[in-house]
Amino acid sequence: MSKPLSRLLRREQRAFLARDRAGWKAHLARIRAFLGEGLQAADPGRPVLVLGAGAGLEVPWDQAPASTVGWDAEPWSRLRTLLRHRRWVPWVFEDATGGLVELDATVRRAVMEPWSKRRRDPTTAARRLAGLLPSLQPHPAALAAWIDAHRPSTILAANLMGQFGVLAETLVEAAFAPGSPWVGDPERPDPLAEALETWTIRTVTGFLDTLAASDADLWLVHDRAVVFSDGRLDLGPWAEAWTAQLRAETGTLEARDALAGVEVPEALARHGRAVVRAERWLWDLAPGQRHLVEALHARPA
Ligand SMILES: C[S@@+](CC[C@H](N)C(=O)[O-])C[C@H]1O[C@@H](n2cnc3c(N)ncnc32)[C@H](O)[C@@H]1O
Repeated sequence: MSKPLSRLLRREQRAFLARDRAGWKAHLARIRAFLGEGLQAADPGRPVLVLGAGAGLEVPWDQAPASTVGWDAEPWSRLRTLLRHRRWVPWVFEDATGGLVELDATVRRAVMEPWSKRRRDPTTAARRLAGLLPSLQPHPAALAAWIDAHRPSTILAANLMGQFGVLAETLVEAAFAPGSPWVGDPERPDPLAEALETWTIRTVTGFLDTLAASDADLWLVHDRAVVFSDGRLDLGPWAEAWTAQLRAETGTLEARDALAGVEVPEALARHGRAVVRAERWLWDLAPGQRHLVEALHARPA
């Protein structure tokens, strides 16, 4: 991982841990219970992989077999896990998407003229970047190689998939600062935002394809949507489309798809995988901001 990307993940991790966690109790209990079940059901004779292991806030490491490996590209995550759980876990610090380094290089190329090192104006740079993004083919090569070499019995994805698009956006915005890469007017098309969304779709799909192609039991937890609302928000009975499950009684509601429209069960079904359990819950991340979290257990074909 390059230095700027490690720095970006470190900043994000610090911001995540610095949030007021007063409203996180229910979320933490549910995610720990779900991931704990996955860890307990794992074959301890084979490796177990925890992707997005982070600082171990959401991962009940006391239930993890000795053969469990953490995976998180944030440079302090392993140490934070040691401090929280008193366990020095074998760790992989690679980018789980395989696409971030190339994305970062492409953004820099668009923002700066390579010959003069002068910054392009934001509109020109955004147009250029929108033209370059479709040629990127994010592929999680390190993850695929690790799975091939270690053949884990169980893979947990602990709340990282919904981060891929957000991280890409943060990376682009940081490179354009103090300018903005976005068109800003919601009435006008924004080619860069659309190109980045397509990159996110390819990244999430590539990640899921790699997981589903393994013969591991999958326990996946991810933000399905980020919801901004100033009124009461509830979840109705399970509905395949997450939008149909949200119940807002009053006030305004704005929801953002964290997976750029990728439906995880459909993506897994392309590999013959069946989702045998599915849950959703609301996570009060901050006042007015709630995440719709999805937890899926998928068995190998
Ligand atoms: C919302 S946090 C999850 C927190 C974590 N599950 C815990 O228990 O503390 C997302 C985690 O995914 C990691 N992450 C995000 N994108 C990643 C990537 N492309 N490769 C590796 N790790 C990534 C971040 O560093 C962060 O620790």
